[in-house]
Amino acid sequence: MLLHRIEEVKSVIKDWKKEGFTVGLVPTMGALHAGHMSLIKKAKETCDKIVVSDFVNPIQFGPSEDFDKYPRTLDADVELCNKDGVDIVFAPSANEMYGEGNKLSNDVLTYVCPPFFYVNTLCGKSRTGHFDGVCTVVLKLFNIVQPDYAFFGQKDAQQVIIIKKMVSDLNVPVQIIQCPIVREESGLALSSRNKYLSEEGKKDALVLSKILNNIKSCYQKGITDVSALKETAYKFLTDKHDMEYLEIVDKNTLEDKSEADNNSIALIACRVDGVRLIDNIYLGE
Ligand code: PAF
Repeated sequence: MLLHRIEEVKSVIKDWKKEGFTVGLVPTMGALHAGHMSLIKKAKETCDKIVVSDFVNPIQFGPSEDFDKYPRTLDADVELCNKDGVDIVFAPSANEMYGEGNKLSNDVLTYVCPPFFYVNTLCGKSRTGHFDGVCTVVLKLFNIVQPDYAFFGQKDAQQVIIIKKMVSDLNVPVQIIQCPIVREESGLALSSRNKYLSEEGKKDALVLSKILNNIKSCYQKGITDVSALKETAYKFLTDKHDMEYLEIVDKNTLEDKSEADNNSIALIACRVDGVRLIDNIYLGE
């Protein structure tokens, strides 16, 4: 069932809770692809009732980012969700979420502000305020849906770590489940932003997974020096790639390391064809 209003969702959830059903939430910005469907599948295996939120959250986009052109495919999303047995697709308007005529800024809205250490690194460095926007909307969704479980993809590894931190610091009664990255056969990590890539761009984008796989295989061969591992990336880069960052950090705390170990994660952000793409890999698994 497709619902647009917060009160409608709350009323269905209230009935479910009375019946003792467990509720799973899959927060999305729509443009659903196989990566999202894997979260929905995991949610179905774990919970009695599933809510998918489908909301392109304006407050997590910077002024020069792609909010206006972000793909919006609600009809197709609802069809996919219906096929996969999702109980509610919650697709609110920005007014519904943030109030009629409200200015979307922290001058007038309460924002959740995750810790500086977690946001002042990786994607947070170039996306000022992004994780405040993500945490704010995710906490609102948690309060509306009151899920027992919420499902997020490892693709946005920094996002999951920050959401887990918020849940722990603010005692939010939800269990966060992280699901593995889904890739095309070529190795390209699925992302709604892949829709922006030309055929040529898609080929050039393979450099992200190639760099990460190569770092992992070097690590497995015994190279642990983080600088040496990062150096291995350069042979893959051409003038078509504008690398924003490549880091190897602790997979739970995002702490920098000079030596990689089995708790390390390598993360990359790179512009290809003008499209900002991210990817990551655990070195120890
Ligand atoms: O990962 C996303 O699609 C978004 O950041 C999320 C978690 C749905 C919040 O808008």
